[in-house]
Amino acid sequence: MTDSKNIIYINNKKVEVTNVYHDITLLDWLRNYHKITGTKEGCAEGDCGACSVIINKKNKEDSKPINSCLVRLGQVIGSNITTIEGLGCDKNPHPLQMAFSNEYASQCGYCTPGFIISGVSLINSGKVVNNDTINDAISGNLCRCTGYSPIIKAIKSVSNRKTKLKKIEIINKEKKVRFGNITYLKPNNLKELKDYLEVKSFQFIAGGTDLNLQRPIINEKESNIICLSFIKELNFIKKFKEKIVLGGAVTIENFLDSVRSKMPELIEILQRFGSPQIRNQGTIGGNLCTSSPIGDLAPLLMVLNSDINVFGKNGVKKTNIKNFFKGYRKNILKKDEIILSIEIPYPNKKNKMFSWKLSKRYDQDISTISLAINIQTQKNIIKEIQMAAGGVAATPKSLDKLCKSMLEKKLDDAIDFATENLDKFIQPISDLRGSSHYRLEAMKGLFRRLQICLRQDKESLSIMEV
Ligand SMILES: Cc1cc2nc3c(=O)[nH]c(=O)nc-3n(C[C@H](O)[C@H](O)[C@H](O)COP(=O)(O)OP(=O)(O)OC[C@H]3O[C@@H](n4cnc5c(N)ncnc54)[C@H](O)[C@@H]3O)c2cc1C
Ligand code: FES
Ligand code: FES
Repeated sequence: MTDSKNIIYINNKKVEVTNVYHDITLLDWLRNYHKITGTKEGCAEGDCGACSVIINKKNKEDSKPINSCLVRLGQVIGSNITTIEGLGCDKNPHPLQMAFSNEYASQCGYCTPGFIISGVSLINSGKVVNNDTINDAISGNLCRCTGYSPIIKAIKSVSNRKTKLKKIEIINKEKKVRFGNITYLKPNNLKELKDYLEVKSFQFIAGGTDLNLQRPIINEKESNIICLSFIKELNFIKKFKEKIVLGGAVTIENFLDSVRSKMPELIEILQRFGSPQIRNQGTIGGNLCTSSPIGDLAPLLMVLNSDINVFGKNGVKKTNIKNFFKGYRKNILKKDEIILSIEIPYPNKKNKMFSWKLSKRYDQDISTISLAINIQTQKNIIKEIQMAAGGVAATPKSLDKLCKSMLEKKLDDAIDFATENLDKFIQPISDLRGSSHYRLEAMKGLFRRLQICLRQDKESLSIMEV
């Protein structure tokens, strides 16, 4: 049961949260407690987008779509949530709702509210609305019956109709939100975090896109969930001449935006990270801390020789990302340590970078394998090479030994060597995503892709290009 006054704004109306179980999602709260049922549940795991809502956490232009099935109510206290009902109604529909009707973009209608939330978010974002941006905007929304052409047509037809989402004065600044036996602690800075680290038992959460797949997310005996997303020292992006430094709670979407000009080679793989809804919520720190062998960021950060700054009770320590992972879903962090920031050196101007992800679908899927490469060749001889792969071992793997064997070799010889000897350097496991044999063969294919890119002097080669 809720002890203190906890406020959420739904479609600009102030609502007090009472009598909820600590684990309830925003989606269940909207539907079951407030009968706001335009927001639908499809998969409850972030895959279908039927539950999409727009969240506005601060009093500025930061309205973004997220999956309401993947956030716990305790994370979003104080935010303004816009649901489909907040965009328009029968008597006064939103232009995109009308466009869906005019373009026959809806059949059973189950997915439609989610698509409209994604479409409105794109139109409001100020981005150019074209096939590419629409495809990206709706990559986290599934429609099983209409087909996507009318949906895309509907969004295009109102591409200049920005909606003014009302800006409201968000006054709820509760730092402790208690639901049942569980307290959500929301430090605003590292000093406050340090005090909270003294509490007896806790679990960190950032975006929750990984943790919230667990139900329940916390053993009730643990009693505290520390939300990292509000800590100002974890929410910065600083660009220096030779590197970019990002706070651990920077979202994947903001990471993507920040590297567009300096590291365009990363755009494709970052844009294929989940969907806009996942990227708006998921963080860099969260991705590394899950320590998944198929997390998309680790291979990129490894070939760029990135450092991780770890914050704990005794201060800050720096470690190279290659030393961060310790075993399957294990890393070097102690229970009371967090990723404070990540320092990513820009690649040497003489080098070329490539990053490829193979998955069952192009969008909204996690990797079966991935490969990142940072390479310099002179007169067809490999002078510098760093490669790291996901999905080939219990942890993301830097292929240092293989790279060493390829140095100072002619490109063609080095690629032949790598493909012929790959099984001496990696021994991938078989699982539902792919067999060990498939992973080895697919990796060899990526080496051949590298060879083609370098031979043809290509800056990049999309995974969709042959
Ligand atoms: C539908 C869907 C699609 C996805 N697609 C992809 C994909 O394409 N590629 C990919 O790599 N991943 C993907 N993911 C996984 C997930 O979204 C990412 O790993 C995301 O970056 C996790 O970040 P988060 O902030 O949400 O982590 P959370 O869920 O908040 O936290 C994950 C873990 O890290 C800990 N933690 C979080 N931040 C910190 C910190 N700063 N310091 C210490 N500990 C911390 C938490 O305690 C928790 O144990 C997907 C997930 C879903 C549900
Ligand atoms: S219900 Fe499918 S993404 Fe939330
Ligand atoms: S209209 Fe039926 S699922 Fe999209």
